[in-house]
Amino acid sequence: MPHFSPSRTAGAAFAAALLFLAACSPEKQSEAPKAASTERMVAPVLLTEDAKDIHSYARPEIARVTHVALDLVTDFDARRIGGTATLDIQAAEGAREIILDTKGLEIHSVTNAEGQPLPWKLGPADENLGAPLIVQLNGADQIRIAYKSAPDAAALQWLSPAQTAGKKYPFLFSQGQAILNRTWIPTQDSPGIRQTWEARIVVPAPLKAVMSGRNLMPEGEEVEGDGRAFHFEMDKPVAPYLIALAVGDIAFQSLGPRTGVYAEPSMLKAAANELADTEKMIDAAESLYGPYRWERYDMIVLPPSFPFGGMENPRLTFLTPTMIAGDRSLVSLIAHELAHSWSGNLVTNATWADFWLNEGFTSYIEGRIMERLYGPERAAQLVELGWEDLNAEIEAMEGGMDSPDSRLHIDLEGRNPDDGMSGVPYDKGAALLRTIEAAVGRERFDAWLRGYFDRHAFQPMTTSLFLEDLRTHLIQGNETLEAKLDLQEWIYEPGIPDNAMVLRSRGFRDVDAAAQGFGTGAPVASLGFPKWNSAQRVRFLNALPRALPPERLAELDTTFGLSRSTNSEVLFAWLRLAIANRYEPAVPALERFLTSMGRRKFVEPLFEALLAEDEWGRPIAERIYARARPTYHAVTSGTIDALMEAEPEEEETAAR
Ligand code: BES
Ligand code: ZN
Repeated sequence: MPHFSPSRTAGAAFAAALLFLAACSPEKQSEAPKAASTERMVAPVLLTEDAKDIHSYARPEIARVTHVALDLVTDFDARRIGGTATLDIQAAEGAREIILDTKGLEIHSVTNAEGQPLPWKLGPADENLGAPLIVQLNGADQIRIAYKSAPDAAALQWLSPAQTAGKKYPFLFSQGQAILNRTWIPTQDSPGIRQTWEARIVVPAPLKAVMSGRNLMPEGEEVEGDGRAFHFEMDKPVAPYLIALAVGDIAFQSLGPRTGVYAEPSMLKAAANELADTEKMIDAAESLYGPYRWERYDMIVLPPSFPFGGMENPRLTFLTPTMIAGDRSLVSLIAHELAHSWSGNLVTNATWADFWLNEGFTSYIEGRIMERLYGPERAAQLVELGWEDLNAEIEAMEGGMDSPDSRLHIDLEGRNPDDGMSGVPYDKGAALLRTIEAAVGRERFDAWLRGYFDRHAFQPMTTSLFLEDLRTHLIQGNETLEAKLDLQEWIYEPGIPDNAMVLRSRGFRDVDAAAQGFGTGAPVASLGFPKWNSAQRVRFLNALPRALPPERLAELDTTFGLSRSTNSEVLFAWLRLAIANRYEPAVPALERFLTSMGRRKFVEPLFEALLAEDEWGRPIAERIYARARPTYHAVTSGTIDALMEAEPEEEETAAR
């Protein structure tokens, strides 16, 4: 296959062209009448060295995708989704080919818009990245790929009716972040290559489809055979990991003028009650960071195997049902996913090494929204819980505070972006922003942050561009401030800098004292547990000595009903404590929890804790995992498979 490599000048000219194409601002676009397909907004691609995405085969400096049109049919029997993807392409002058990302796709044909075949080939497949699909353009500015996803596509989970709340119909959902969407959409799967998209999705009746775009026909339309077609569009350029789909027996309830929730019918009422504050959260976020630019903010509560707490798919956040506690105590998750509407979806990490720009900013904003709605004390408690977890997590890394993975800007060379997932991008990232806020004052910091979103809306962001923006618009040559912040250390060095702004909440001091008292024999009846909030209960359980006699654990469990807690965070903290004490009576509750949901944040530490308890824990872990594994999403089972396999080997080497 002939290779086209652009000269430096051609590359630069193309970069200029891209910037030119992006010059019409998103605001202007959204005010204009609905753009015809030829005038779709095109977002620039950064072509600097640090914006190069090592997790994509795409060569956007040669040719890039600007728009994706999907026409797909879901086949629940074969567990495959198939049809066509039509891609709009911008190519540099003289460009002969475009390179797309794929993983496990069965490609049937590639043609131009007129249906004439184009030569294509799949390059060698990498375990993490999949295989490049290289298409000869022959001058085409639109290509159509006919394909099918593999039954084991990692982005897709096909649930049997038994795995749903209603138990009657199957369910399908997708999870794109970080590099999974290439298992069902053949496009350039890189967060720096923003694309508008549209989709027609055919599903079997009476199921419904929802997506992370404008829902053009919520009831769908009948198609030949026993199916319905649903139509969606996203006219703002988004990172391709944000294209998401869910199909099932899905009902909708409105919550406010621009908010609503989808869920299986039997879950809908509880979901709507839990999420009642969402509209107020949007108002709070807007007053801090400027307009919400995605029109609607709906949510879908998925079946319990959803591997994350939440996923910020634009216009349609995907949620775990484990956030439904009945008392709205876990809604910081909504504040978080909503915050991504600014940090992540509007201004997006250019590469996965810049992931902290998504999650650190979002965790910071989550705290600000929580503070607006529920006051500084509740917000500070959540920050403090995160801080506690962060410190423990870094200490547990190989090398502890010197671990390279405790840097904000991480090195993912040869690794899956998933390996960089830890509390570091979240809580160390947020701590950096709180430290800057404390140094310049809230008013100036807020003004800068709001401006940052305006200046970079619908664009990718690298760590160095962030630093440049911060220096230009906030630090402004103030050398004392620059020295005080020590940004270099914060971003490029491991560990936690000394100048970190640490929040201490009042409400945790009593709790810590109570935990200490209980550890030294104070009666269970003296504990304020029943009147504590969810965060205080979690703090208490985490603050207890790790070794407690079984009688004391039994007292806690029977007095406060911990094993039956409907608050997943409290239950999780309790089960960790129980496992550390090899407390047999909690094992049925543990088994129930691990076989009833697949949220990795809960599942992974619990299996890890079991495996750490050698001859006691491993058989329990193996027995539970044998039952649970078939119900988990690939994201979760992949992590637990590695745990289960790695542990004995490591023990063996350690023993030698
Ligand atoms: N975007 C993330 C989830 C994610 C990150 C998925 C990386 C795949 C790769 C989402 O916004 C998130 O952070 N979810 C957290 C909740 C949050 C409150 C910390 C989760 O799932 O626990
Ligand atoms: Zn997040």
